[in-house]
Amino acid sequence: MKILAINASPRGKKSNTLRLVEAALTGAADAGADTEFLDLCESDIGYCTACGICYQTGECPIQDDYAGILSKMQAADGLIIGTPVYINAVTAQLKTLLDRMADVIHCQAFAGKYGIVVTTGGGGGTDEVIAYLGNTLQVLGADMCGGVGAVMAEGSERFEQRISEAEKTGELLVHAIRNKTPYPEQEVFHAEMRKHMSALVSANRETMQHEYEYLKNRGWIE
Ligand SMILES: Cc1cc2nc3c(=O)[nH]c(=O)nc-3n(C[C@H](O)[C@H](O)[C@H](O)COP(=O)(O)O)c2cc1C
Repeated sequence: MKILAINASPRGKKSNTLRLVEAALTGAADAGADTEFLDLCESDIGYCTACGICYQTGECPIQDDYAGILSKMQAADGLIIGTPVYINAVTAQLKTLLDRMADVIHCQAFAGKYGIVVTTGGGGGTDEVIAYLGNTLQVLGADMCGGVGAVMAEGSERFEQRISEAEKTGELLVHAIRNKTPYPEQEVFHAEMRKHMSALVSANRETMQHEYEYLKNRGWIE
Protein backbone atom coordinates (compact mmCIF):
# COMPACT_ATOMS: atom_id res chain seq x y z
CA MET A 1 0.00 0.00 0.00
CA LYS A 2 1.38 3.38 -1.02
CA ILE A 3 0.78 6.68 0.74
CA LEU A 4 1.93 9.94 -0.83
CA ALA A 5 2.20 13.06 1.33
CA ILE A 6 2.37 16.50 -0.24
CA ASN A 7 3.34 19.58 1.75
CA ALA A 8 2.48 22.89 0.12
CA SER A 9 4.35 25.24 2.47
CA PRO A 10 7.20 27.24 0.91
CA ARG A 11 9.12 27.12 4.22
CA GLY A 12 10.86 23.81 3.61
CA LYS A 13 12.26 22.23 6.77
CA LYS A 14 11.03 25.18 8.89
CA SER A 15 7.40 24.51 7.95
CA ASN A 16 4.98 24.03 10.86
CA THR A 17 2.71 22.09 8.51
CA LEU A 18 5.60 19.74 7.75
CA ARG A 19 5.50 18.62 11.41
CA LEU A 20 1.89 17.48 10.94
CA VAL A 21 2.62 15.92 7.53
CA GLU A 22 5.57 14.00 8.95
CA ALA A 23 3.51 12.82 11.94
CA ALA A 24 0.75 11.58 9.61
CA LEU A 25 3.38 9.80 7.50
CA THR A 26 4.87 8.19 10.62
CA GLY A 27 1.40 6.94 11.60
CA ALA A 28 0.88 5.56 8.10
CA ALA A 29 4.31 3.86 8.05
CA ASP A 30 3.76 2.35 11.53
CA ALA A 31 0.45 0.93 10.28
CA GLY A 32 2.34 -0.82 7.47
CA ALA A 33 2.23 1.49 4.43
CA ASP A 34 5.04 2.45 2.04
CA THR A 35 5.32 6.20 2.30
CA GLU A 36 6.64 8.96 0.08
CA PHE A 37 6.99 12.69 0.73
CA LEU A 38 6.80 15.48 -1.84
CA ASP A 39 7.70 19.11 -1.13
CA LEU A 40 5.38 20.81 -3.62
CA CYS A 41 7.19 24.13 -3.43
CA GLU A 42 10.37 22.48 -4.75
CA SER A 43 8.42 21.62 -7.91
CA ASP A 44 7.91 23.66 -11.04
CA ILE A 45 4.17 23.84 -11.78
CA GLY A 46 2.69 26.42 -14.12
CA TYR A 47 -0.84 27.77 -14.18
CA CYS A 48 -3.61 25.99 -16.06
CA THR A 49 -4.24 27.94 -19.26
CA ALA A 50 -7.70 26.39 -19.83
CA CYS A 51 -6.61 25.12 -23.27
CA GLY A 52 -8.82 22.03 -22.82
CA ILE A 53 -6.24 19.68 -24.37
CA CYS A 54 -6.28 17.38 -21.31
CA TYR A 55 -10.01 16.84 -21.92
CA GLN A 56 -9.16 15.56 -25.40
CA THR A 57 -5.96 13.61 -24.74
CA GLY A 58 -5.70 13.02 -21.00
CA GLU A 59 -2.38 14.87 -21.03
CA CYS A 60 -1.43 18.44 -20.18
CA PRO A 61 0.74 20.09 -22.84
CA ILE A 62 2.61 22.29 -20.33
CA GLN A 63 6.13 20.89 -19.89
CA ASP A 64 6.81 21.02 -16.16
CA ASP A 65 6.63 18.78 -13.07
CA TYR A 66 2.84 18.30 -13.13
CA ALA A 67 2.79 15.02 -15.08
CA GLY A 68 5.30 13.43 -12.67
CA ILE A 69 3.34 14.59 -9.63
CA LEU A 70 0.06 13.36 -11.11
CA SER A 71 1.53 9.90 -11.75
CA LYS A 72 2.74 9.73 -8.15
CA MET A 73 -0.77 10.68 -6.98
CA GLN A 74 -2.32 8.12 -9.33
CA ALA A 75 0.03 5.40 -8.07
CA ALA A 76 -0.86 6.10 -4.42
CA ASP A 77 -3.67 4.35 -2.54
CA GLY A 78 -3.81 7.21 -0.07
CA LEU A 79 -2.97 10.90 -0.05
CA ILE A 80 -1.94 13.20 2.77
CA ILE A 81 -2.33 16.83 1.72
CA GLY A 82 -0.73 19.52 3.88
CA THR A 83 -0.87 23.28 3.51
CA PRO A 84 -0.54 26.33 5.71
CA VAL A 85 -3.50 28.71 5.81
CA TYR A 86 -2.75 31.62 3.47
CA ILE A 87 -5.39 34.37 3.57
CA ASN A 88 -8.03 31.91 4.81
CA ALA A 89 -7.27 29.45 2.02
CA VAL A 90 -4.61 27.05 0.72
CA THR A 91 -1.26 28.29 -0.64
CA ALA A 92 -1.07 29.43 -4.25
CA GLN A 93 1.27 26.52 -4.99
CA LEU A 94 -1.37 23.97 -3.93
CA LYS A 95 -4.16 25.81 -5.74
CA THR A 96 -2.00 25.85 -8.88
CA LEU A 97 -1.63 22.08 -8.67
CA LEU A 98 -5.37 21.59 -8.09
CA ASP A 99 -6.26 23.86 -11.02
CA ARG A 100 -4.32 21.52 -13.31
CA MET A 101 -6.58 18.61 -12.29
CA ALA A 102 -9.86 19.38 -14.08
CA ASP A 103 -9.41 16.27 -16.25
CA VAL A 104 -8.99 14.11 -13.11
CA ILE A 105 -12.25 15.57 -11.80
CA HIS A 106 -14.17 15.01 -15.05
CA CYS A 107 -12.95 11.39 -15.02
CA GLN A 108 -13.50 10.97 -11.26
CA ALA A 109 -10.12 9.29 -11.60
CA PHE A 110 -9.30 9.18 -7.88
CA ALA A 111 -12.28 6.89 -7.17
CA GLY A 112 -11.19 4.21 -4.70
CA LYS A 113 -8.46 6.36 -3.13
CA TYR A 114 -8.60 7.74 0.39
CA GLY A 115 -7.14 10.96 1.71
CA ILE A 116 -6.52 13.08 4.78
CA VAL A 117 -5.73 16.75 5.20
CA VAL A 118 -3.44 18.60 7.63
CA THR A 119 -3.06 22.35 7.98
CA THR A 120 -1.60 25.02 10.26
CA GLY A 121 -2.70 28.63 10.61
CA GLY A 122 -1.23 31.48 12.62
CA GLY A 123 -4.51 32.46 14.26
CA GLY A 124 -7.27 30.48 12.53
CA GLY A 125 -8.68 29.47 9.17
CA THR A 126 -7.84 25.80 9.65
CA ASP A 127 -11.46 24.58 9.71
CA GLU A 128 -12.14 26.34 6.40
CA VAL A 129 -9.05 24.82 4.78
CA ILE A 130 -9.93 21.32 6.04
CA ALA A 131 -13.47 21.74 4.68
CA TYR A 132 -12.19 22.99 1.30
CA LEU A 133 -9.56 20.29 0.85
CA GLY A 134 -11.87 17.57 2.16
CA ASN A 135 -14.42 18.59 -0.43
CA THR A 136 -11.70 18.76 -3.11
CA LEU A 137 -10.61 15.18 -2.36
CA GLN A 138 -14.22 14.09 -2.80
CA VAL A 139 -14.62 16.12 -5.98
CA LEU A 140 -11.58 14.26 -7.35
CA GLY A 141 -13.42 11.01 -6.55
CA ALA A 142 -11.58 10.05 -3.34
CA ASP A 143 -12.92 9.48 0.17
CA MET A 144 -11.92 11.97 2.88
CA CYS A 145 -11.03 10.15 6.13
CA GLY A 146 -10.11 13.05 8.38
CA GLY A 147 -8.40 16.37 8.90
CA VAL A 148 -6.16 17.94 11.53
CA GLY A 149 -5.70 21.68 11.92
CA ALA A 150 -3.29 23.41 14.29
CA VAL A 151 -3.62 27.07 15.24
CA MET A 152 -0.10 28.18 16.13
CA ALA A 153 -1.33 30.97 18.48
CA GLU A 154 -2.74 28.26 20.77
CA GLY A 155 0.81 27.43 21.88
CA SER A 156 3.28 24.58 21.81
CA GLU A 157 1.42 22.21 24.12
CA ARG A 158 -1.66 22.33 21.90
CA PHE A 159 0.58 21.92 18.82
CA GLU A 160 2.08 18.74 20.29
CA GLN A 161 -1.48 17.41 20.76
CA ARG A 162 -2.26 18.17 17.13
CA ILE A 163 0.92 16.35 16.08
CA SER A 164 -0.28 13.24 17.96
CA GLU A 165 -3.70 13.58 16.29
CA ALA A 166 -2.01 13.79 12.89
CA GLU A 167 -0.12 10.56 13.64
CA LYS A 168 -3.38 8.80 14.57
CA THR A 169 -5.07 10.17 11.45
CA GLY A 170 -2.22 8.75 9.33
CA GLU A 171 -2.89 5.34 10.92
CA LEU A 172 -6.63 5.75 10.30
CA LEU A 173 -5.92 6.42 6.62
CA VAL A 174 -4.08 3.11 6.30
CA HIS A 175 -6.85 1.22 8.12
CA ALA A 176 -9.48 2.82 5.85
CA ILE A 177 -7.57 1.70 2.75
CA ARG A 178 -6.93 -1.79 4.12
CA ASN A 179 -10.56 -2.32 5.19
CA LYS A 180 -12.08 -0.35 2.28
CA THR A 181 -14.02 1.54 4.95
CA PRO A 182 -17.31 2.75 3.49
CA TYR A 183 -18.35 6.37 4.03
CA PRO A 184 -22.05 6.21 3.07
CA GLU A 185 -22.57 9.99 2.77
CA GLN A 186 -19.54 10.27 0.52
CA GLU A 187 -20.84 7.36 -1.59
CA VAL A 188 -23.99 9.40 -2.27
CA PHE A 189 -21.81 12.38 -3.21
CA HIS A 190 -19.64 10.23 -5.54
CA ALA A 191 -22.70 8.75 -7.27
CA GLU A 192 -24.02 12.28 -7.92
CA MET A 193 -20.62 13.43 -9.21
CA ARG A 194 -20.35 10.47 -11.60
CA LYS A 195 -23.85 11.22 -12.91
CA HIS A 196 -23.06 14.91 -13.31
CA MET A 197 -19.67 14.32 -14.99
CA SER A 198 -21.08 11.65 -17.30
CA ALA A 199 -23.77 14.10 -18.46
CA LEU A 200 -21.25 16.93 -18.93
CA VAL A 201 -18.74 14.81 -20.84
CA SER A 202 -21.42 13.12 -22.99
CA ALA A 203 -22.82 16.51 -23.97
CA ASN A 204 -19.30 17.65 -24.99
CA ARG A 205 -17.94 14.40 -26.37
CA GLU A 206 -16.39 16.09 -29.46
CA THR A 207 -14.09 18.22 -27.29
CA MET A 208 -13.72 15.76 -24.39
CA GLN A 209 -12.81 12.59 -26.29
CA HIS A 210 -10.37 11.25 -23.71
CA GLU A 211 -12.83 11.78 -20.88
CA TYR A 212 -15.68 10.24 -22.85
CA GLU A 213 -13.61 7.09 -23.51
CA TYR A 214 -12.42 6.96 -19.90
CA LEU A 215 -15.93 7.19 -18.42
CA LYS A 216 -17.26 4.68 -20.97
CA ASN A 217 -14.48 2.20 -20.10
CA ARG A 218 -15.32 2.52 -16.43
CA GLY A 219 -18.97 1.79 -17.25
CA TRP A 220 -20.10 5.21 -16.02
CA ILE A 221 -21.48 6.18 -19.44
CA GLU A 222 -23.89 3.63 -20.96
C1 LIG B 1 1.19 34.94 2.98
C2 LIG B 1 0.71 34.42 4.31
C3 LIG B 1 -0.64 34.39 4.56
C4 LIG B 1 -1.13 33.93 5.78
N1 LIG B 1 -2.47 33.95 6.01
C5 LIG B 1 -2.95 33.54 7.20
C6 LIG B 1 -4.35 33.56 7.46
O1 LIG B 1 -5.18 33.97 6.65
N2 LIG B 1 -4.78 33.14 8.68
C7 LIG B 1 -3.90 32.68 9.64
O2 LIG B 1 -4.35 32.32 10.72
N3 LIG B 1 -2.57 32.62 9.40
C8 LIG B 1 -2.07 33.03 8.21
N4 LIG B 1 -0.72 32.96 7.95
C9 LIG B 1 0.17 32.31 8.94
C10 LIG B 1 0.46 30.84 8.57
O3 LIG B 1 -0.72 30.15 8.24
C11 LIG B 1 1.14 30.11 9.72
O4 LIG B 1 2.30 30.77 10.13
C12 LIG B 1 1.43 28.68 9.33
O5 LIG B 1 1.70 27.90 10.48
C13 LIG B 1 2.63 28.59 8.39
O6 LIG B 1 2.83 27.25 8.06
P1 LIG B 1 4.20 26.72 7.48
O7 LIG B 1 5.24 26.94 8.54
O8 LIG B 1 3.93 25.28 7.23
O9 LIG B 1 4.48 27.48 6.24
C14 LIG B 1 -0.22 33.43 6.76
C15 LIG B 1 1.15 33.43 6.48
C16 LIG B 1 1.62 33.92 5.27
C17 LIG B 1 3.10 33.93 4.98
